[in-house]
Amino acid sequence: MENNQRLVVEGGYPLLGTTRVSGAKNAALPILAACILTTGDFRIANIPPLMDIKVMIKMLNALGVRAEYLANDQVVIRNNRKIRHIAPYELVTAMRASFFVAGPILARTGFAKVPLPGGCAIGIRPLDIHINGFKAMGVDINIEHGFVQMTAKSLRGARIYLDFPSVGATENIMMAATLADGTTIIENAAQEPEIDDLANFLIQAGACIEGAGSSTITIQGVSRLVGRDYAVIPDRVEVGTLMIAAAVTRGDVCIKGAVPDHIEPIIRKLKDAGVGVDVTPTDIRVVGSDTITSVDIETMPFPGFPTDMQAQFMALLSIARGIGIVTERIFENRFMHVSELMRLGADIRVDQRQAIVKGVPQLWGAEVKITDLRAGAALIIAGLVANGQTRIYGLDHLRRGYYELPQKLERLGARIHLI
Ligand code: UD1
Repeated sequence: MENNQRLVVEGGYPLLGTTRVSGAKNAALPILAACILTTGDFRIANIPPLMDIKVMIKMLNALGVRAEYLANDQVVIRNNRKIRHIAPYELVTAMRASFFVAGPILARTGFAKVPLPGGCAIGIRPLDIHINGFKAMGVDINIEHGFVQMTAKSLRGARIYLDFPSVGATENIMMAATLADGTTIIENAAQEPEIDDLANFLIQAGACIEGAGSSTITIQGVSRLVGRDYAVIPDRVEVGTLMIAAAVTRGDVCIKGAVPDHIEPIIRKLKDAGVGVDVTPTDIRVVGSDTITSVDIETMPFPGFPTDMQAQFMALLSIARGIGIVTERIFENRFMHVSELMRLGADIRVDQRQAIVKGVPQLWGAEVKITDLRAGAALIIAGLVANGQTRIYGLDHLRRGYYELPQKLERLGARIHLI
């Protein structure tokens, strides 16, 4: 039944009005995993009810942490029982971010058995950086029968240089280090805002962490963490997506609850393209212009242009004046949206890690399929500006990561409905 569901977008209507951003999925997931480290009863607020979040909540319950989703974006955590060692196969394979539980289980119990997350639509996404970090902390690793088995008599602090500033590895190692013996220094750490948010949650629970949000993070292990109420940061990818939707439809939209510092590259690139962007400490207003000019983008670790915004920005470049070059530096296979954008009339040529986007005066409605989460947002953006009706299939991808995106767009005046 689910598979036949589609979004129908009638293009050509400007987005107008005010909207509010939801909590960040990519901050909420590691923070929920970090609850394995923290004993006590507490609440985490600003957690959007997304499919990925529900998977993580199931995971916590399977591991012995009682986690319950309340209405109003809150999760109640009760962590007073023994932690189980084995992460269920069906949950890890449903979502790669489930591997975040490895570091916390290890730190609490000294033994973790977590299935390999397996392939992923946007690339192979190996785990070597996580695993090398754990090894440096004295963990024995055995990979067999599809499981990563990790054993540590005692987890000890270490100096760990990451070959690449992986977001997940930085988070996993940082979580493990909070309860390790001694000091861990993570060098070439990822600097994404979600790492800072995770560190703040852990610090509030009693962890000793310095430098999160910079390339060197120092963690002094402590003997226990006690969870405290916390609220997750707003979703910078949702903000960026709404900004681009407002820009392509030549709309005028105020996005409330955003943190402008988190989306500086999007603001810069949209301004370079001729889009009006006004920023206050908590709100962002986007005013579309008659002509959008092509710009080049290159995805990079934070504070570079986020890979999670690449597909949406490509939708904008599809109707910009001139040629824009999109270079994808984070994932090796993140251009699957190109063929779908081309079905809508976009003129794009892919050459290995680059897509050359020649702006066209008009996209045309067509039937398209979502291949991954951010590709879904790109297709909606393209549909909003295309001439006629765009029918978008594969909505499960979208529900994994955007909370009510079609509804938010509809409230801003988009003609978009679910069939
Ligand atoms: C997180 C985000 C995801 C975002 C990505 C990059 C979450 C839940 N997801 O994913 O939305 O697109 O950051 O900003 O926060 N890599 C290795 N070995 C490793 C780990 C990663 O080679 O051990 C590679 C990956 O294959 C990829 C690159 O490093 O090419 C970046 O991955 P990483 O930063 O780890 O992304 P995730 O944490 O999986």
